[in-house]
Amino acid sequence: MAIFVITLLKLIVLLFNDLERYSTEQTITSLPFDKQIQSAHSSSNASNRTSPFSLDYYRQYVKQKNREQYMYNKNLFSVNTTRYILLVQVHTRVVYLRKFIEMLQEVETINETLVIFSHDFIDFDINALVTSITFVPVIQIFYPFSQQLYPNEFPGLDPKDCPRDISKHKALAVRCNNAPHPDRYGHYREVSIVQIKHHWWWKLNYVHNSIDILQNRSDYLLLLLEEDFYLSPDALVFLRKMENEKERLCPTCSFYTLGNLEKSGKQFGRLGSKVSVAYWHARFNLGMTISHQVWTLLVKYAEEFCTIDEYNWDWSLVYLAQKHFHFPRVMWSSATRVVHLGSCGTHHKKFCSNVSDIARWKDTETFYRTNRKYLFPTTTLSLHTKHENKRLLKQLNGGWSDLRDRQLCLSFAFKDAKNLSSIDVEP
Ligand SMILES: *[C@@H]1O[C@H](CO)[C@@H](O)[C@H](O)[C@H]1NC(C)=O
Ligand SMILES: *[C@@H]1O[C@H](CO)[C@@H](O)[C@H](O)[C@H]1NC(C)=O
Ligand SMILES: *[C@@H]1O[C@H](CO)[C@@H](O)[C@H](O)[C@H]1NC(C)=O
Ligand SMILES: *[C@@H]1O[C@H](CO)[C@@H](O)[C@H](O)[C@H]1NC(C)=O
Ligand SMILES: *[C@@H]1O[C@H](CO)[C@@H](O)[C@H](O)[C@H]1NC(C)=O
Ligand SMILES: *[C@@H]1O[C@H](CO)[C@@H](O)[C@H](O)[C@H]1NC(C)=O
Ligand SMILES: *[C@@H]1O[C@H](CO)[C@@H](O)[C@H](O)[C@H]1NC(C)=O
Repeated sequence: MAIFVITLLKLIVLLFNDLERYSTEQTITSLPFDKQIQSAHSSSNASNRTSPFSLDYYRQYVKQKNREQYMYNKNLFSVNTTRYILLVQVHTRVVYLRKFIEMLQEVETINETLVIFSHDFIDFDINALVTSITFVPVIQIFYPFSQQLYPNEFPGLDPKDCPRDISKHKALAVRCNNAPHPDRYGHYREVSIVQIKHHWWWKLNYVHNSIDILQNRSDYLLLLLEEDFYLSPDALVFLRKMENEKERLCPTCSFYTLGNLEKSGKQFGRLGSKVSVAYWHARFNLGMTISHQVWTLLVKYAEEFCTIDEYNWDWSLVYLAQKHFHFPRVMWSSATRVVHLGSCGTHHKKFCSNVSDIARWKDTETFYRTNRKYLFPTTTLSLHTKHENKRLLKQLNGGWSDLRDRQLCLSFAFKDAKNLSSIDVEP
């Protein structure tokens, strides 16, 4: 009898899940924009990768999606209690993203978080992957000034923009865009490089200012990730532990970072339950958190973030941290709980190979499986090292001297979208 009742209950649960699923799908397909993209995709010749839509259409799509903020798996979302929001910057790399999602499913307590994917490229395969996620609430947002949406004009590449390596006097002679303002190393802007900092800054502003369900809250913690990151199965549980033990270990810490690039980062047997403390620096950017309090401080200096001649978001942050925030401290996991897999980032293009990256993915999976017994430490955390040296920022890396970039960046920091059409005029 008991077995019969249990079976019946199971059936009901299954049926309920199906219904739930069905109704979600109904909602998804009722989004006109996704549906059209889907049908255009399936009817297009796979070897023809050109877009079946006009740019106008894509720009509308982005506006619509950002306004709509549709949450997939909303039934898993807890309005008041969700603390961790995984904010994932996604470019074009479907192969990584597929793996990323597979990996995410293995992360303990992932179902108690919200994942926001911030895209700078609209692609059917990417959307299909994201919308097929069932185990965590998901929202997609789209960076609205991407190269894809503006291929022939700023913020993309305007035909009249100065080539990166043209000399200033030549630039002035041919009167290309931004000619009077090369960066500190004499170079002009590179679209795909500046887009990364723009997107990073845009998504943070957007999440804090414009995601409706977060508007009345300041108690969440953003974990910044990218599509080619790998999280250990205990990454979130460990983050919780760091938070719980912060008062004892580092009451003044402003950041938590789950990953590191230290050689010792692989020594889980020795360091699996240890944390280290240091002054925050760009080297602690791998799987770092941003609290609402930190963000509130940061936006106060939007003007400097957007106008210093520094194309890296993390080095821009180092600049602010040292100049205005009195060297904030970071508590980081001494054994790395985030691994950056991709070699296809902008810095290493020449050696890029997705084959070796996927091999690294497998290695990393094996690595965490081998070290499983050191994950989820139950003892209290202890301090491994405390670094007291301040690595002073000596010089900026340039790449951020175009007045249009500075204006665009600044415009994101204001909640009400400023009139951006003036940005298109030549400086
Ligand atoms: C797809 O288009 C290419 C040219 O763009 C053509 O060579 C190929 O035969 C087409 N394939 C199919 C299945 O229609
Ligand atoms: C690709 O598809 C678009 C829209 O359907 C079409 O205009 C274009 O000619 C196609 N390109 C090739 C190479 O077939
Ligand atoms: C969230 O918290 C507010 C105020 O504390 C409360 O009124 C509301 O009912 C809560 N919502 C849920 C879904 O728990
Ligand atoms: C998340 O999953 C765990 C284990 O599967 C479960 O015990 C817990 O209730 C789930 N939490 C939510 C909010 O769904
Ligand atoms: C936020 O608070 C305002 C004013 O109390 C309320 O009108 C609004 O519905 C709240 N939004 C959310 C998402 O809870
Ligand atoms: C690697 O990239 C190549 C070309 O970009 C692609 O054809 C291939 O499918 C990719 N490999 C994997 C495993 O996805
Ligand atoms: C935006 O600025 C342009 C030129 O500066 C102006 O012509 C246009 O009317 C403005 N649009 C709005 C909505 O304010």
